[in-house]
Amino acid sequence: MLICRSVSECREAVAKLRQNGHRIGMVPTMGYLHAGHMSLIQTAKTQSDAIVVSIFVNPTQFGEAADLDAYPRDEDRDLALLNEAGVAVVFLPEVGTMYPPGDETIVETTRLANMLHGEVRPGHFRGVTTVVARLFNIVQPDVAVFGEKDYQQLQVIKRMVADLHMPVQIIGAPTVREADGLAMSSRNVRLTPEDRAAALVLSRALDAAETAAKGGTVDALHATITATIASEPRAALIGLDIVADETLNTLTGPLTGPTAIMISVAFGDILLIDQRVVTP
Ligand code: PAF
Repeated sequence: MLICRSVSECREAVAKLRQNGHRIGMVPTMGYLHAGHMSLIQTAKTQSDAIVVSIFVNPTQFGEAADLDAYPRDEDRDLALLNEAGVAVVFLPEVGTMYPPGDETIVETTRLANMLHGEVRPGHFRGVTTVVARLFNIVQPDVAVFGEKDYQQLQVIKRMVADLHMPVQIIGAPTVREADGLAMSSRNVRLTPEDRAAALVLSRALDAAETAAKGGTVDALHATITATIASEPRAALIGLDIVADETLNTLTGPLTGPTAIMISVAFGDILLIDQRVVTP
């Protein structure tokens, strides 16, 4: 496994892989890897035969400096995991490499970035698209994999790639779940045992929504989800969006096509998110 810290090292490493006839799959990450990231790598392996993983804690997608400083980092452990997973190249740039002195170019999906989660995290998705566009320009992968769990991020990146005619195929990988259905997240370990048990209400609400979606309406879906969450006294529903799967436009009336449900639920001060695309 090659570890590259500069743009030229990374380009050289990828060029060699290409010369040897490899199809390049990329998984951009912010490090501190867990089973979810490893499943993105496994998905990338089904679509390509040489994997490039980037590890870069991107300052422009954080709202507050404190969040950026608090972001966990463990480079040695990450590298050991990636080596074990058979990754070909790891790109580990410094902030000054990704954002060279005097840099002023941003990439933004103007509508998708500023709705739903983007409304409460101004500038977040602009930071994501700006860094992912730069990473794609450096690595030039054939395919890149992102988790469906961050559903809006996936749609934002697909839009950017389509709008800018970037020659990369974007693949969404299904959310990795614990055996009992809870979506994996580094926050799960912070739940009390009672809240951990209560957190199953998220997947229960999405199961109920899947059934309610058959011949149903947006209002019925909304009512089913809110009632299921309300049945769990430890859970507080923070956000519920029922939107068209690609445009993320708000829907009303009878469901007519693939519909994305995004929910966020708090257990004490721990916020969990989950998502599912349902069909009528
Ligand atoms: O999902 C993430 O970890 C980040 O938003 C990404 C895509 C690596 C961009 O910094």
